[in-house]
Amino acid sequence: MNPFLIQIPFFPEQASNFALEIDLFYLLLFALTGFFTVLIGVAAVYFLIKYRRRSQGEVPEQIEGHLKLEITWTVIPFVISMFIFAWGAKLYYQMYTPPTDALEIFVTGKQWMWRAQHPDGQREINELHVPLGRRVKLTMTSEDVIHSYYVPAFRTKTDVVPGRYTTSWFTPIKTGTYHLFCAEYCGTQHSGMIGKVIVMEPPDYQAWLRNVPRDKSPAEAGAQLFSSQACDKCHLEDGAGRGPSLQNLFGKDVKLANGATVKVDETYLRESILNPGAKVVAGYPNDMPTFQGLMTEEQVAMIIQYIKSIGPKQGAASTTAPAAAAPTPAAQGVKAPPQAAKPAAPQGEQQR
Ligand code: CUA
Repeated sequence: MNPFLIQIPFFPEQASNFALEIDLFYLLLFALTGFFTVLIGVAAVYFLIKYRRRSQGEVPEQIEGHLKLEITWTVIPFVISMFIFAWGAKLYYQMYTPPTDALEIFVTGKQWMWRAQHPDGQREINELHVPLGRRVKLTMTSEDVIHSYYVPAFRTKTDVVPGRYTTSWFTPIKTGTYHLFCAEYCGTQHSGMIGKVIVMEPPDYQAWLRNVPRDKSPAEAGAQLFSSQACDKCHLEDGAGRGPSLQNLFGKDVKLANGATVKVDETYLRESILNPGAKVVAGYPNDMPTFQGLMTEEQVAMIIQYIKSIGPKQGAASTTAPAAAAPTPAAQGVKAPPQAAKPAAPQGEQQR
């Protein structure tokens, strides 16, 4: 439990690492706005009365200017607004720079539901179970229109956009059940596109994972798609095929036919699956067919997860550990063994 939490009346609960700082920032903006509204409003009324016209034809005293006064009311707002800018930019940077060691969950928005898939393949709809104290990164896209993944208790709200990946990350700091809303009007049942985020103690989360009927992991399903869609006929491991090898590729820079260089990330891989001609790797023909309309966003994501899984090893605690605490079929339905109880995150990171 974070000792620095200050629950502010009328605010949602503070359940993520960002919540307190965003509340303080918001309160500062609110206080500044209130202060200047009152100051200007009172001054306006006061001057209105004090300097009212008292007789027909009265001519007021002419004032040419007052340098000190003008400098004062330029410099003070400048300093205040730069402070707001700096603090806001810092928060923005933190929130939009997901850590590399986060637990990565894939989220798809669709009229009118939220789907989530955990690294080992557990799926859920309109719910999201996450472990307390662990950094969680959501990689999100939409099957249709723009949605927005909004968890007030986490103070996170991220648009979920068809045709691209957006990310959101947080560290849950308090167990409980919190509201999940769609915060972008997306059709008649937009208001019903709601759900729950459930923050659990890490052992409970592990037990929950074991009890969810599990598909293949996204990477396993992706490997299967990779051969059933015949990707493996051209993308040979040794690079001698019609397409480049995808081994050890993720996260690297590749040279394109047009001379540019591009970093292989989720967005680039997705584009290359759906619009292969857009960024052709140097030395290979532009003859891969598009998979636009042939694969769902979830399938595209599975292939990407597969390509990641055959890529260079990421930061120690990436997609597999510790959520992958070996959920064997035999363990399903069995109570959580204590070895899964180790919280993944040190206390220190909660204040990030
Ligand atoms: Cu989805 Cu509003």
